[in-house]
Amino acid sequence: MAAMKSAYENLGEFIAGLEKAGELLRIKAPVSSNLEIACIADLASKSRGGGKALLFEHVRESRFPVLANAFGSERRICMALGTDSLDSLARRLERFMRIEPPTSLRRFVNLLPMALDFMRFLPRRRSKAPCQDIIYRGEEVDLSELPVLKCWPWDGGPFMTLPVVISRSLETGRRNAGMYRLQVFDRNTTGMHWHIHKDGSHHFQEYKRAGRRMPVAVAVGADPAVTYAATAPLPRGMDEMILAGFIRKKPVQMTRCVSIDLEVPAEAQFVLEGYVDPEELRPEGPFGDHTGYYSPVGQYPVFHLTALTHRRNPVYAATVVGRPPMEDCWIGRATERIFLPLLRAIHPEVRDFWMPWEGVFHNIVVLSIDKEYPGHARRIMSAVWGQGQLSFSKAAVLVDGKVDLRNPRKVLETILNQVDLESDLYISEGVLDVLDHSAPDPLFGAKIGIDATFRRPDERQRKRPAPAGQNPADEIIKRSLRYTSGLLSGFHCPPLNVRNRVLLLNFAKDGRTSGRTLSHKLLQKRRLKAFSIMVILDSGIDLRDYSLVLWKLFNNVDPKRDIVIHGGRLVIDATRKGVEDGHTRPWPKDVEMSPEVLASVKGRAKDLGIEDLLAG
Ligand SMILES: Cc1cc2nc3c(=O)[nH]c(=O)nc-3n(C[C@H](O)[C@H](O)[C@H](O)COP(=O)(O)O)c2cc1C
Repeated sequence: MAAMKSAYENLGEFIAGLEKAGELLRIKAPVSSNLEIACIADLASKSRGGGKALLFEHVRESRFPVLANAFGSERRICMALGTDSLDSLARRLERFMRIEPPTSLRRFVNLLPMALDFMRFLPRRRSKAPCQDIIYRGEEVDLSELPVLKCWPWDGGPFMTLPVVISRSLETGRRNAGMYRLQVFDRNTTGMHWHIHKDGSHHFQEYKRAGRRMPVAVAVGADPAVTYAATAPLPRGMDEMILAGFIRKKPVQMTRCVSIDLEVPAEAQFVLEGYVDPEELRPEGPFGDHTGYYSPVGQYPVFHLTALTHRRNPVYAATVVGRPPMEDCWIGRATERIFLPLLRAIHPEVRDFWMPWEGVFHNIVVLSIDKEYPGHARRIMSAVWGQGQLSFSKAAVLVDGKVDLRNPRKVLETILNQVDLESDLYISEGVLDVLDHSAPDPLFGAKIGIDATFRRPDERQRKRPAPAGQNPADEIIKRSLRYTSGLLSGFHCPPLNVRNRVLLLNFAKDGRTSGRTLSHKLLQKRRLKAFSIMVILDSGIDLRDYSLVLWKLFNNVDPKRDIVIHGGRLVIDATRKGVEDGHTRPWPKDVEMSPEVLASVKGRAKDLGIEDLLAG
């Protein structure tokens, strides 16, 4: 691996670094910001290893180039964060957090270099800033000049997808930087999509209570450490610019905005300045989201721009999110690694944790722990459900510390071998991510904990059925399914040598038969007794595409409504839900590129220089 620079001062340096490392593809042929760029970025994200970063030099609708997929591989996220590996960055953070209060003068003196080091991370103020090379104020502001992407066919419009949104608490004066998308409404207003649980929304509530307009600044195309830090789930009140400084090993330079009382990263490519009026909400969305589904229209605040500033020759930075794997999976992977030491600082028994991409971060977390007492796993489940943004996790799965979470197949086999489906599943309730679509109500609903840790002698032992012999022959399964329901249109038994055998089923929903009715019937079938877990999926789902199956399983299930357990066996209904299932919220569409745009991009592959993306 090429030697890595410790910090990129700005996006331009990062682009140069990517190019030097052979990680950048320049696309010179004209492309449209309306779906075409997103289509190419999607192909790159899904190609082997995450493809390359893409620099679109000639965007039809704008004079500014667009950078996408810059963080979208293990190597590029490491480059962005100036580290050889995410683990070594995590270890650096862990060392930093282990500092103990000095108990002697000698220890105090030993700590001084660390303290000085910390001072190096604090943001600095700078008066002349490149992000203000060009300034537009008031009526001069025109967002239509920017190459803002419309990513997916059903998107409500163009969205800024990689913005660092900066605000300040009215009560504490502390800064927050969060990444919240902005839907461009017209030349000088956008939506402000901070979810209700996020720090930006908390500041908004403060301004609402005070009846005051909230100043907001947005940096687009900040240096990569700042852009990453805005996505990091730091505790409220901690300045993301300090985290960015820590990652960069040098302070972030901040400069005063030209029209509001906030500071922004001086080296950003573009800065949007303005305010949000707490009394004004407007429909925002739909948007093809990182869940792989469209998030529905919701009421969100409106951001009014008072100024737009940018560098000379700026590059507009964007990301395209959709069904994983996409660029944001690598950003999430960085968070998973960097935040492990923080989690371990509070819960040292946690060895490791893993958020499988198919779970889109909020749906499932797997934790390995060193278990020391009865109920220890349950305690960690409760901790997870009360811990910052981890609290959105719908499923928390606990395994023993010796299980290597970097080996997904082994993890799955361990779980399927260990669990007693009658006693190891624990249904709870709690907050859910705004983007969850499967719970009957938004924001709050069922959670599932799965305890696959070993049983200590002082714990109640598992009552596991003897492992089933062989799977029944395909003909027998087929016949059994035919007798169960004419709506079962396909099946597949994944080749896993485990105690709890799995049967995947396609269900052609008719709008009348509920998943629960079908589940009860399936559990009664004598010939299907060899399978302790049956998963029902919609009829179009390829049951041999395990990533697709897991994505549907993690996203479409409300644990209380959609899991039926009986006699140590269970059925999980991972189909889309309708009124027949008692689900009255609209069910979102899958995010997919329009076939016309895909065909046109593929037809121009040579001209665009993206043949490699299509090959792999
Ligand atoms: C590409 C990308 C887009 C995101 N968009 C949003 C968004 O529109 N709204 C939101 O609340 N969180 C969004 N997030 C997640 C937040 O950035 C993340 O939860 C962050 O920790 C929020 O910062 P805060 O803790 O300061 O509120 C996005 C994350 C990424 C990587």
